[in-house]
Amino acid sequence: MIHGIPLYRDTVKKILFVCLGNICRSPAAEGIMNALIQKSNFKEKIICDSAGTANYHVGQLSDPRMRKQASLRGYELTHLARQFNPQEDFKIFDYIITMDNHHFQTLKAWDSKGQWKDKIFKMAEFCKKFEVKEIPDPYYNEEEGFNDVLDLLEDACEGLMQKIKNDSLKS
Ligand code: 4NP
Repeated sequence: MIHGIPLYRDTVKKILFVCLGNICRSPAAEGIMNALIQKSNFKEKIICDSAGTANYHVGQLSDPRMRKQASLRGYELTHLARQFNPQEDFKIFDYIITMDNHHFQTLKAWDSKGQWKDKIFKMAEFCKKFEVKEIPDPYYNEEEGFNDVLDLLEDACEGLMQKIKNDSLKS
């Protein structure tokens, strides 16, 4: 969670993963990224949160199917769903990472002046092993679809970590 972390700490890179409901893809991405951060030299230098463009599931734990599949890989998902807040989140976060084109377009529309366009990314662009354009919505599929999403997210989180390391070396 990001709230409570002093914003003056500009040396801390802040990532926000965004999907629709904030109960499947983005909290899983947050859990995977947190595990990578813990294993890296960037502890306390990178922090993550996640949010949904919709408010359907605000306050809920992640979907039990995602929690189960994530747990089998060693990720305990404890995030409670929240909705993306355009007034605050565009300012706070350095990397705002959308799971599919729908969220990407929604955030572009909320950033109507294009003020924050350089912060908005597509998660799929960080995949190295998989060639995909989007992280697909598993919500209406079988449980196996959650596993496929976790494969993509693990791949993308590795690529994202590399990008943040490269960006940090430049600045
Ligand atoms: P997410 O998945 O965007 O990855 O959290 C979904 C969760 C809920 C719904 C759709 C997608 N829903 O329609 O309630």
